[in-house]
Amino acid sequence: MGSVKGWAAGLLLAGLAAACMGQALTKQPASVYHARRMALAAELKGGAAILFAAEEPVLDFMPYRQNEDFYYLTGWNEPGAALLVVAANEHERGYREILFLPTRNLRTETYTGPKLDAESPGVTTATGVDAVEPMAMLPVELNRMIDADRRLAGNLWTQLDSAPARALMSFTAATFGVDQPPPAHDVTTMTMPLREVKDEGEVDLIRKASDASIAAQREMFRAVKPGVTERAIAGKMTAVWMEHGCERPAYAPIVGSGINSTTLHYSNNSRTIEDGDVVVVDAACEFSMYASDITRTVPANGHFTARQREIYEIVLGAQQAAIDAFVAGKSKINDYYHKDPDSLDVAAYNYINTHGKDLHGQPLGKYWMHGLGHMVGIDVHDPAVYPAVLKPGMVFTIEPGVYIPEEKIGVRIECDFLVGADGKLIDLDAALPHTADEVEAAMRGK
Ligand code: GLY
Ligand code: MN
Repeated sequence: MGSVKGWAAGLLLAGLAAACMGQALTKQPASVYHARRMALAAELKGGAAILFAAEEPVLDFMPYRQNEDFYYLTGWNEPGAALLVVAANEHERGYREILFLPTRNLRTETYTGPKLDAESPGVTTATGVDAVEPMAMLPVELNRMIDADRRLAGNLWTQLDSAPARALMSFTAATFGVDQPPPAHDVTTMTMPLREVKDEGEVDLIRKASDASIAAQREMFRAVKPGVTERAIAGKMTAVWMEHGCERPAYAPIVGSGINSTTLHYSNNSRTIEDGDVVVVDAACEFSMYASDITRTVPANGHFTARQREIYEIVLGAQQAAIDAFVAGKSKINDYYHKDPDSLDVAAYNYINTHGKDLHGQPLGKYWMHGLGHMVGIDVHDPAVYPAVLKPGMVFTIEPGVYIPEEKIGVRIECDFLVGADGKLIDLDAALPHTADEVEAAMRGK
């Protein structure tokens, strides 16, 4: 089955696609997106940014998800659109922003439901962008702007991995009768720093994702037992996310029991949980495009063995060592090789490497083989240059782990943290069990 995007879309079986389109997302006020576009323009130094919406997914079972930067700048959740943001120059040109929408296709709309286009009444209010034009006008507008200010051709910023962006650059060359497309720059280098610090509305959406994910993790504590499949656990958690208004998981749920607990991104979820296993459950959802990212590790039968508890407490101790070391504006996250003395990774690694031993009397540091954490936002792994300095308004994970295949024991504990305005850390997942005793109590329904 193909996806609903070609000229022949009307011939396709698209009932599923109809169900997938147009999820009602909680949007921030239009003024917030407008301010973000102005902030982007302020970085452009007289240049222009052109961003394209995400295309329809190739597979019909995949719901549409907007391009992250496009959503950040517009809150617009439809495919086929483009955004042009043009900074004022020192001459007569003022700031401009235009949202380009594709021409409506009434045949496709019998499957997808009605869409807005540039001619729709009230479209400017509905989109919140200063001007809305048909997509066909994008090369025309770009040609006119470059014609009026030839330096603009060397100051264009777009998504370098976007096929429509490449096509636009080539066609723009054609509109000037030249054979070399203008040298486009990577717009994500401009949007990344803007997205790193979250505003209050974004934090509110992340909290909603977090609260729904906490509820699902609580359901997991009740549901894990020997004889239950990993996939059934993922399914129960998915139901809770949906009941809480989330649109999807923030990443493929990881329910790894026994030996699977030692595979970092195990997501087959195809094994049946057995007595004596530990189960790593790294699963969280997305609320209105904003992610949560939570991991808890539980004993299948409700009681950690002495060895499982020892490893659990070392991982929890490493997370606490990172929390204790935190200083806003100085501490860094995701220092993969533990080289930067300001990184929280070093604090966590030193803890793990000086507590406990493997079966051969060796330190445990080598059994932790990933970064300590990452930014969270519209992407579960929000873009950043790592190791990244942690400042007020940032949201990130602290997720140490120890994975010993020889013992079939993997433990990861992951919480999302907000750096408060006062520089203090706020654990967004504080309502979930953290200690081994709390985990066991939650599995007894306490
Ligand atoms: N939760 C998956 C990861 O952070 O890689
Ligand atoms: Mn994570």
